[in-house]
Amino acid sequence: MGVKEKLEDLLKQGIEEINTSQDVKAVEEIRVKMLGKKGPLTAVLRGMKDLSKEERPLVGKFANQVRDELTTAIDEKRASLASAMLNAKLAAETVDVTLPGRPVVQGQPHVIQQIIDQLVDLFSAMGYQVAVGDEVEQDEYNFERLNLPKDHPARDMQDTFYVTPQVLMRTQTSPMQARMMETHDFSKGPLKMISPGKVYRRDTDDATHSHQFHQVEGLVVGEHVTMADLKGTLEVVAKTLFGDQLEVRLRPSYFPFTEPSVEADITCFNCLGKGCAICKQTGWIEVLGAGMVHPNVLKMSGVDPDRYGGFAFGLGPDRFAMIKYGVEDIRDFYQNDVRFLSQFNQKG
Ligand code: DAH
Repeated sequence: MGVKEKLEDLLKQGIEEINTSQDVKAVEEIRVKMLGKKGPLTAVLRGMKDLSKEERPLVGKFANQVRDELTTAIDEKRASLASAMLNAKLAAETVDVTLPGRPVVQGQPHVIQQIIDQLVDLFSAMGYQVAVGDEVEQDEYNFERLNLPKDHPARDMQDTFYVTPQVLMRTQTSPMQARMMETHDFSKGPLKMISPGKVYRRDTDDATHSHQFHQVEGLVVGEHVTMADLKGTLEVVAKTLFGDQLEVRLRPSYFPFTEPSVEADITCFNCLGKGCAICKQTGWIEVLGAGMVHPNVLKMSGVDPDRYGGFAFGLGPDRFAMIKYGVEDIRDFYQNDVRFLSQFNQKG
């Protein structure tokens, strides 16, 4: 076979391979195979020296032509494969702009946190400071400074988890009373504070008890603070959280750190006082403990009980949430089942 025929064959074979190749990689392989240093075209060009003088320029010209045609075919094929690839990719990634958007699921604070937030807003607006204490507390503040000495029987109701004999998981937020009083400068005005947070007791968990729950402590100490101020304040709390039509009733009770001590009830929000299953036919629901700060408690925190006095209260946001939403099992709040929790949305 003459050189010219060889070249023609090469061209024909090359074009056919290029046309039938399926991807850019195959095209590149053809280029290397046909036009590379070890390829047939290079071999032909190398063999030119054996040709006659007349043949040489003709074959050389034709060989160049073959190389150019193959190169052009390769470039065109590569471009068409690349654009086909791009089109396929675009088709696969088509976005239907007419589809409705996916709603963004918005979280919300836990229902107990919602109650705490409402109380914090309310009391901040009334000029109270918000003091968050530590959950690990000293016996001295949790009990002694609240008029509960070592062998006081009322300690039994609040047995808890001890870290050391003198350090424990606080059983109440009341220790913040002592901590705030001992640092407050009463010459600058009364102390008004609330303290929300977690508390712990060695309780067996059941529908109405949990070994960990929440409290919001309140304390106002200054000159001329009366029990009427306490009742008025509790009325504002009840109306804000449960509705305007509710009344507050105080019943005598006992707490070691208040004298007198009271238990506060609110009108049953369900029957508005007529009597129903929720309020056990009494028309009232017990919501918190309160009282006038005991002189011993004032004294132990360096406050003169002859000059200053005040009221304190402690309420349970968990219990408030149960009452407000008719939740019967306190444990539901702590299981973090979003289906349960998402039912309670103050803002929604
Ligand atoms: N600390 C009390 C408890 O956990 C609640 C309480 C009652 C707090 C009366 C007070 C108060 O500040 O005056 O049972």
